[in-house]
Amino acid sequence: SFIQPPQVAWASGALADGPLLRKSTRIQDLTHVFADENARQQLAGEQVVYDVEMLDTSPADGELYTGVTHLYPGRVGCEYFMTRGHFHARREQGEVYFGLRGTGLLLLQTEQGDARLEKVFAGSVHIIPGFTAHRLINTGEEVLSALAVWPGIAGHDYAALARGFRIRVFEENKRVQAKEVQNG
Ligand code: PA5
Ligand code: NI
Repeated sequence: SFIQPPQVAWASGALADGPLLRKSTRIQDLTHVFADENARQQLAGEQVVYDVEMLDTSPADGELYTGVTHLYPGRVGCEYFMTRGHFHARREQGEVYFGLRGTGLLLLQTEQGDARLEKVFAGSVHIIPGFTAHRLINTGEEVLSALAVWPGIAGHDYAALARGFRIRVFEENKRVQAKEVQNG
């Protein structure tokens, strides 16, 4: 019952041929992001959960940022590796994601708390409206890479979802299981 998004052919998972900024997010950076905090603490803190490569473009009003997220396969306890997730600081600003390689889910959640999941795969196109928080989840066994384009003025608000999204995605009996949670 995941939403089937539109598709586009896409060639490659890696961003290249431009001035790039890179940021790695590790297990040790993701305190209280996963449901099982004890399981997180058992993992090597230096293990990279995701890398973001970003074009070094202007943040001026009207300009766009472009980045690729490489989300590695893995789990914390039974919960799949995922990005921290955020609203934009400028809540009305939207974003577009394109699936490049691997398989996963894009978790979207409105300010009212309505959450939905879209399948992510090579060629998938995701329109993230304004006022909608977003998080990538890698449910596969390979790297999940997705390209994102968003307004330079959008900014990130991580604090608004510090208690977590309303849906968490786990592997149970070798199947992908999405579960509604009250908070965190
Ligand atoms: O702009 C985006 O939404 C992405 O580039 C994300 O910032 C990226 O996937 C990393 O996720 P987060 O910012 O939630 O750590
Ligand atoms: Ni964003």
